[in-house]
Amino acid sequence: MASKEQVNIDKLPLHVAVIMDGNGRWAQQHGQERVFGHQNGVVAVRETVEAAAELGIKYLTLYAFSTENWNRPQEEVDALMILLVQTIRSEMDTLQKNKVSLGIIGDTEKMPEGVKEELLIAIDETKYNNGLKLILALSYSGRWEILNAVRKVALDIRNEKLDENDLSFDSFESYLEASKYPDPELLIRTSGEFRISNFLLWQIAYTELYFTDVLWPDFRKKEFFDAIVDFQSRERRFGKISAQIKRD
Ligand code: IPE
Ligand code: IPE
Ligand code: MG
Repeated sequence: MASKEQVNIDKLPLHVAVIMDGNGRWAQQHGQERVFGHQNGVVAVRETVEAAAELGIKYLTLYAFSTENWNRPQEEVDALMILLVQTIRSEMDTLQKNKVSLGIIGDTEKMPEGVKEELLIAIDETKYNNGLKLILALSYSGRWEILNAVRKVALDIRNEKLDENDLSFDSFESYLEASKYPDPELLIRTSGEFRISNFLLWQIAYTELYFTDVLWPDFRKKEFFDAIVDFQSRERRFGKISAQIKRD
């Protein structure tokens, strides 16, 4: 188990993304309904945000609700929306204390009106905070984001705002919501599943992946530091060879 002291502050990832998974199984292990797991996941969110802020990480993206999660039983979806609003309200003091500013990526048009309003208020109230940028992926999926970007590109070409010959990785990225932030260097997934589940598909091209068996409600600062320490032991080659990386 890593502690904060084991983290090399000079080698921090700029952006960490997290697939917070395992709430339902955690609840089942405790003989409770799934929503009990979601409620207990809030503690893990707080710990992760604080850990990232303490280290001085600049961007943290949390996958909170996928476009596919709308297909869950309606009562679970409703409970998650209520919990989201409650959490944003109850965590506001922690966000302000840690100078965290809030951002959102995803198809928020699908969110209930009241939830959307609450999110906009929270974004506004935290907009001058200059510490960690906390990005919530809500009603988000990588395929949705890419398709949405392609639609906007097509529209700009049709309206002669863009020439298809000028389309590059950089210019295409400007149409992707999540690409207003740097690509994550590290992606953590909890609960022992080894998949991406439609998260930042474009942005994770060279992201380091870290999987842990810990179920999300049990995730604490030390688990976050573990992931960072593990990340710091890796050699990121981006298609080059090791000798080139050591020379650079
Ligand atoms: C993650 O936990 C939370 C959301 C996807 C909203 P799950 O609810 O997926 O929990 P498991 O994977 O069923 O245990
Ligand atoms: C991924 O978890 C989405 C979030 C954590 C918000 P899921 O539980 O929805 O993913 P699958 O269905 O196991 O792939
Ligand atoms: Mg799950």
